[in-house]
Amino acid sequence: MNNKLLNVTNLDVHFGPTQVIHNVDYHVNEGEILILMGPNGAGKTVLLKSTFGLFEKSTGTVEFDGKVIHPHPSSMVEAGMSFVGQGKRVFPSLTIEENLRMGAYLWSDKKMIQARTEELIQFFPVLKKKFKQIAYYMSGGEQQILALARGLMMNPKLLLLDEPSIGLAPKIVQSVFEKIAEINKTFGTSIVVVEHNLKSLLNIAHRGYILAEGKMLMEGPVEKLADSKNLEKVFFGEIA
Ligand SMILES: Nc1ncnc2c1ncn2[C@@H]1O[C@H](COP(=O)(O)OP(=O)(O)OP(=O)(O)O)[C@@H](O)[C@H]1O
Ligand SMILES: [Mg+2]
Repeated sequence: MNNKLLNVTNLDVHFGPTQVIHNVDYHVNEGEILILMGPNGAGKTVLLKSTFGLFEKSTGTVEFDGKVIHPHPSSMVEAGMSFVGQGKRVFPSLTIEENLRMGAYLWSDKKMIQARTEELIQFFPVLKKKFKQIAYYMSGGEQQILALARGLMMNPKLLLLDEPSIGLAPKIVQSVFEKIAEINKTFGTSIVVVEHNLKSLLNIAHRGYILAEGKMLMEGPVEKLADSKNLEKVFFGEIA
């Protein structure tokens, strides 16, 4: 049987009088790459952010690594969760080295930070090449790699990624996804990826959910989700 690393139950999120997440349950097994799909406005970002504790007004139970935690970013980070938000999440005026250090903000041991930085720049050679340069001059794909690396600095058990492909050319998207699969294999990190395009993740994700209008419509192995006739309806033909 699979061990659940994250188990979220009965999640409701309201913004004023409007409910945007309706009684959602989802879980992440240890070691898996999970894809979370759904059309624009489905509630994918709100779901990830409330799991990470970015919305005070969400209700439900979040169990992570065997403990029920009241979601708050600092307690989630301390427990071993990392969140890389949508868009390019780097500090453009800081160097790559400084950006990475920001990802280890709970660590005070300089040797530990240096060793992890060293490990990650070996893993992401593009960061090694530009280590002392400011992030402003990196391409979109390189900035996404830096955001991923920063999210990995404290060696999280679970990495939440909100649309890492956004704004990237298809070829670059593929290389970012290959790197995500490699992170999962090399570091054993469990990963949740929010993504519109199921096809691009079919080869790397293990399981997935489809969210629409704030409700979970479907759960299963990616092959099952890809086969489903409902997909066409959900995405209005976006996925052939
Ligand atoms: N801070 C907020 N205040 C009020 N409503 C919000 C807020 N954030 C999101 N919403 C609403 O919640 C719903 C879900 O939004 P969310 O951003 O999670 O969708 P999404 O599935 O991530 O869409 P996309 O694919 O466009 O990123 C939308 O109707 C959105 O307008
Ligand atoms: Mg979103």
